[in-house]
Amino acid sequence: MSEVLRKAREYEEKHRKEPPAEIRPKFHFTAPVGWLNDPNGFSWYQDRYHLFYQYHPYGTKWGSVHWGHAVSSDLIQWEHVPAAMAPEDDYDRDGCFSGSAITMKDGSHLLMYTGFVYDESDPKHRGIQTQNIAIGDGSNYRKCTSNPVLSVDDIPGGGDPYDFRDPKVWMDHDGILNAVIASGEEMSGARIIVFRSNDGVHWKYSHVLLENRYRFGRMWECPDYFPLDDAEVILVNAMDMEEASPEFHSGNNGLYFLGRTDPDSKRFLESSVHTLDHGMDFYAGQTMLAPDGRRILIGWMQNPGTASEHETVHSYFGQMSIPRELHIEKGRLLQMPIRELESYRTCAVEHRNVTLCSEKKKLDGVSGRILDMELIIRCRDFKRPFNHFEMRFAQHGDRFAALTFSPVSRSLRVSRPFSPETSMKLNERETVLPKWDGMLQIRMILDEGSAELFLNGGETVFSMTLETDPKADNITFVSDGDLILDVKTYKLDSTLR
Ligand code: FRU
Repeated sequence: MSEVLRKAREYEEKHRKEPPAEIRPKFHFTAPVGWLNDPNGFSWYQDRYHLFYQYHPYGTKWGSVHWGHAVSSDLIQWEHVPAAMAPEDDYDRDGCFSGSAITMKDGSHLLMYTGFVYDESDPKHRGIQTQNIAIGDGSNYRKCTSNPVLSVDDIPGGGDPYDFRDPKVWMDHDGILNAVIASGEEMSGARIIVFRSNDGVHWKYSHVLLENRYRFGRMWECPDYFPLDDAEVILVNAMDMEEASPEFHSGNNGLYFLGRTDPDSKRFLESSVHTLDHGMDFYAGQTMLAPDGRRILIGWMQNPGTASEHETVHSYFGQMSIPRELHIEKGRLLQMPIRELESYRTCAVEHRNVTLCSEKKKLDGVSGRILDMELIIRCRDFKRPFNHFEMRFAQHGDRFAALTFSPVSRSLRVSRPFSPETSMKLNERETVLPKWDGMLQIRMILDEGSAELFLNGGETVFSMTLETDPKADNITFVSDGDLILDVKTYKLDSTLR
């Protein structure tokens, strides 16, 4: 093992053994110490789920990224295990950037990732990006002696050596490995390109799967590609988008494309594109195929545009979303929290047919900061829809975060105006509900540091971190006009299993 990795492992081990000095989310993954960004190498290997992640153990700001590592049997309770990789070689000395994992035919676990090295001659201080391999047994990983397996010379015409990253690997039925890689390119801004390999070590460029043509941002990162139900899905994370409509927000955003690959041209024929998560904090989502066939997505609950503005008092920074089960229905990707979360539910409280007539209401037993809530809102009279509904949560007096909905415009908004982070630019997001037929279903997962809202079976999702005091745990329903609520809440208890 290299000195750099040994040092990182000793450092995290020392912190792991210290008594927990701070509050941490109970159901959202955090690093043992230091900074965390993208999920990497999300996979099922040797009867356990593995989650690797972009990790800077020595600070709570981004820098010198390692690959942290954790394992789980249910995707909810994670056990930290020693870091898997450190930036130390000629091709990755300034960072082991994002990538993915796959089980090889010989039973080994292969990691494919981007090596990052600052280019001293570049006035813009960018870094050269290459693709690399490490092979391991679920605990220890050895970098391949022939790294980089894809260097800047392998980027097809017009490709930018400073924007060539984040390989996501899958295996075909015939055992051939494929990797989608994000590539910045002069003519298209960003494209997703495919490389293929028989053995994981020798890779060859195959084709362009999808091009941006400057529609969504200047560069795409962290691509993913997978078949789902009766379609194919591409995920990308678009950088520096300009707001195009209420559906496409400015800044950095995860997008999903639905469509089908043309067997002749190998191009992805897109039928639709949508925002993956409308909240302030969801980026670099990566999926895995669970042994029972579920396609599961996990994301970094942050926004790269504002992550560095957070000032944390904790020894760690960054958290992952709740893993989500994916499906496609009626041309939309549906995301719902993994069903494993339900085994941590306790203390059910239910209220049915609660009427709200231009008033504010708290309901008995409906409060908490570590909570799973199911809510249905219906018009009291379908001919006279209400004007406005608001659900306030993480509330203490007149400070709260909120979801608001106006049926006439179908406008949905989440906000956290009373976040102590007054410097944060991004404290609200708005979108339009695809359709409104008089009823809105909401599932909300609250943890001490976040809220995730899944609307209408996960067709519209909002994720956001919350930095308010965990004691701010009231929930209030507010209406302008008449409506009916059905509410069910459960406390989530991490000691149940
Ligand atoms: C996305 C990203 C990736 C890169 C990594 C570096 O958040 O910029 O493209 O591999 O973070 O930490």
